Amino acid sequence: MSSHVTHALPSYLDKNHLGPWGIYLEQVDRVTPYLGSLARWVETLKRPKRTLIVDVPIELDDGTIAHYEGYRVQHNLSRGPGKGGVRFHQDVTLSEVMALSAWMSVKTAAANVPYGGAKGGIRVDPRNLSRAELERLTRRYTSEINLIIGPNQDIPAPDVNTNAQIMAWMMDTYSMNKGVTATGVVTGKPISLGGSLGRTEATGRGVYVTACEAARDIGLNVAESKVSVQGFGNVGGTAARLFHDVGAKVVAVQDHTGTIVNEFGLDVPALLAHVAEQGGVAGFANAQSIDNDAFWSLETDILIPAALEGQITERNAGQITARIVVEGANGPTTPEADDILTDKGVVIVPDVIANAGGVTVSYFEWVQDFSSFFWSEDEINHRLERIMRDAYSAVSQVARDHKVTLRTAAFIVACTRILQAREVRGLYP
Ligand SMILES: NC(=O)c1ccc[n+]([C@@H]2O[C@H](COP(=O)([O-])OP(=O)(O)OC[C@H]3O[C@@H](n4cnc5c(N)ncnc54)[C@H](O)[C@@H]3O)[C@@H](O)[C@H]2O)c1
Repeated sequence: MSSHVTHALPSYLDKNHLGPWGIYLEQVDRVTPYLGSLARWVETLKRPKRTLIVDVPIELDDGTIAHYEGYRVQHNLSRGPGKGGVRFHQDVTLSEVMALSAWMSVKTAAANVPYGGAKGGIRVDPRNLSRAELERLTRRYTSEINLIIGPNQDIPAPDVNTNAQIMAWMMDTYSMNKGVTATGVVTGKPISLGGSLGRTEATGRGVYVTACEAARDIGLNVAESKVSVQGFGNVGGTAARLFHDVGAKVVAVQDHTGTIVNEFGLDVPALLAHVAEQGGVAGFANAQSIDNDAFWSLETDILIPAALEGQITERNAGQITARIVVEGANGPTTPEADDILTDKGVVIVPDVIANAGGVTVSYFEWVQDFSSFFWSEDEINHRLERIMRDAYSAVSQVARDHKVTLRTAAFIVACTRILQAREVRGLYP
């Protein structure tokens, strides 16, 4: 049994069904021995500061009234306002949103952007809603969480199944409720509404940049490498295109519609067009369709999980042939799988570094909104790459110093920053 069950759990969680929150607690336990005197404050990290559960009722197009569960969790605000995406997915749970909010605290601290961590979600499959229903759902959810979000309080952004249009509706709803045009309340907005150039691609670009850093560390030539990607949405699709652009072979892609392979390399731009039209990778020409489980054992150099959490487990970790796993998704690797991969010598670039590109350009967007002064795409990509490289190199230095994995090192860097802020602020009152 893992050590986290020895800690007091809030009564609203079931210790037998901790889900992703259990994984997060275990990650905190692993870092605690490295926190020195700051370990005194570690319990702060093991409970979210604020958890809001809301009922989101909407009228469907056929006249039915439907109710959905909505959440906004602010895990830690010691270093700045809350920051984190909003997920629309039928499997969203409180435990999941809590874990995702905590990973945001760690991520903003590891990337050293001045935010805390937060996350939101609605338990809904948006594919079953019309556009008008989706808009009503988004607006009602925004109104319900209105009291805890704001440009200086907590700034939502896109996550799984949410996009720039949904951010525009959120921004409009918040602005209407407040009677001001508040562009800085969400990031990942359309460019016409104070969005930032480069934001859509930022997470995938960060995945690519950190993968290149890790490849350099182990002497792997990215341009000659084979890459496999799970999840071909915003993150996975962009990362795959950037690898393809430098000549790497993207040999396998899996999404919710199936798994396709081509050992000579998939035509990524054509696949992106196919997915935009068909909604998934299934049926793509010039590729072979294989069983989903077989994806994990395919021969590859760089494996990018960029879908959902809990994908690399003790069941499939042993079959993985990649030398580098770059976590585009949040929490894709269970702690057991983490150990199996580490024992095999696989380098794992953890989510809190690998996918921090999104929050970094969200930070740029927020800064640009406040100053109403917008930067060029080149400038944004250049600054993004510098922050990602700096974050990677600080973490890999700590990993070498303490002889720990990049994940533990990222948690050491991040938890130290969060708890230093906590300590120096002191406990109120
Ligand atoms: N968008 C961002 O800026 C951002 C930033 C940081 C982290 N992330 C994380 O990256 C991951 C992907 O986010 P996204 O924004 O690309 O979402 P998205 O909705 O654009 O794409 C999700 C992809 O995952 C695939 N998928 C869903 N269920 C699957 C399954 N069971 N098996 C295989 N594939 C499946 C979908 O088909 C789709 O291709 C999530 O974990 C998210 O939290 C996203």
